[in-house]
Amino acid sequence: MRSVDIPKIGSFEAWRDAARALLVARVPPEEVTWSHGEAGADLFADNAPLPQGEGAVTVPKDFLPLARLAVWHRDPERFARLYTLLWRVQTEKRLMGDRGDPLVARLNAMAKEVGRDKHKMTAFVRFRELGDPGAARRQFAAWFEPTHFIAEPTAPFFAKRFGDMEWSIFTPDLTVHFDGDLRFEPGVVKPPFPEDATEELWRTYFRNIFNPARLMPKAMQSEMPKKYWKNMPEAALIPELIATAPARARAMAEAMPTIAPARAAKVGASLREAQALRAAGQDALETALAGCRRCPLWENATQPVPGEGPLDAPLMFVGEQPGDQEDLMGRPFVGPAGRLFDDTLNEVGIDRDKAYVTNAVKHFKFVPRGKRRLHQNPNRDEIEHCKWWLGIERERVQPDLIVAMGGTALESLTGSRKNLLKRRGQVEACDDGTPLFVTVHPSFLLRIPDRVRQNEERARFREDLARVRAMVG
Ligand code: URA
Repeated sequence: MRSVDIPKIGSFEAWRDAARALLVARVPPEEVTWSHGEAGADLFADNAPLPQGEGAVTVPKDFLPLARLAVWHRDPERFARLYTLLWRVQTEKRLMGDRGDPLVARLNAMAKEVGRDKHKMTAFVRFRELGDPGAARRQFAAWFEPTHFIAEPTAPFFAKRFGDMEWSIFTPDLTVHFDGDLRFEPGVVKPPFPEDATEELWRTYFRNIFNPARLMPKAMQSEMPKKYWKNMPEAALIPELIATAPARARAMAEAMPTIAPARAAKVGASLREAQALRAAGQDALETALAGCRRCPLWENATQPVPGEGPLDAPLMFVGEQPGDQEDLMGRPFVGPAGRLFDDTLNEVGIDRDKAYVTNAVKHFKFVPRGKRRLHQNPNRDEIEHCKWWLGIERERVQPDLIVAMGGTALESLTGSRKNLLKRRGQVEACDDGTPLFVTVHPSFLLRIPDRVRQNEERARFREDLARVRAMVG
């Protein structure tokens, strides 16, 4: 038997390295026992260093994302289960897709539970300011009790969100410190304070056991399981809030408030910014777009791609998002889908220079695959955040007709992409009443493998654009 102890800090990398070495040495799963932070747990096992074999280990592409989550589950068998899966995928090529396989099903369920727990941590951690008068920077700390070992993989979320601050999160399994860099230390025992311990008590406790922290409380989330209440100061208010909710709802309805004050300030600022940009020149719009941080897509894209065309264009085309070439050139529809789009416009007699061409989402979303960047569909949040920019473009151009090309554009402009193919060729209305012509996206045509079908679909796209041309004259 071999015994492998996975440390409590850096568990994923340690498991991955050990599993790779075991596999290269052809050690079958039943000959390995795994422990977690208990070096030398099995005195009778072979604790000699693992062989560092050279052989390459290949895994299906969905194996690592699964392992990266499931490895943090509290199930004591997690390392063994993952190694068994790794062992089996070497010969059972389709195993990962076999949801009926008990091991695959169990690990997928574990990964899901870990994902949920990570989400809960991002939502329910509550920081307390230490208010140490001697500290150069404000310091914050939090106590949190996750279900699984998720403090380490969730720490980068907090580091990113609160990167310019200092903070610590204490959990029973692990302590996370952030002061520009993330550091991990063993967990601590929760102090035996009563649940209604004063902030002052917490402050003293945190100040005494640690190193700095700093953060702002995250907005209360809609779903808040009771197990998290005890560490959330605002949770003390929940029973009363629930009890008085109907009366308060009635009072609110009578007073007819529209937006909560804190949000009102944000929405007001956003409206004023949009108004200024509507009147601003293209340069100002592009500068503002270059600073967009409304969603995370800006991080990996080369640049945002604004729409282009005359501001008095009668016709606006809306695509999905820039592709690889658009991202590099900073212009919409200049890659393969753009060429097909241009050819079709020429065939039906629409002058692209007289139309405004843009996208529902302004940054390229992709996953790297070797040297290539593979397009990924923007999700609902990304579409929703970018609607703000599309709204400004629409206000600036005020076209007579908008053409939605594909599901993303349709969702952005109407709120739903359902039944795209049924809605295709019809004229709907945008929220402000502007007529909206629905058609498919040119890249849909490029993806049709069958030549005959592709030609048929191209002809239909041509017919659609011919109708558009007839509508705007
Ligand atoms: N696809 C789009 O939707 N837009 C582009 O700009 C390029 C490809």
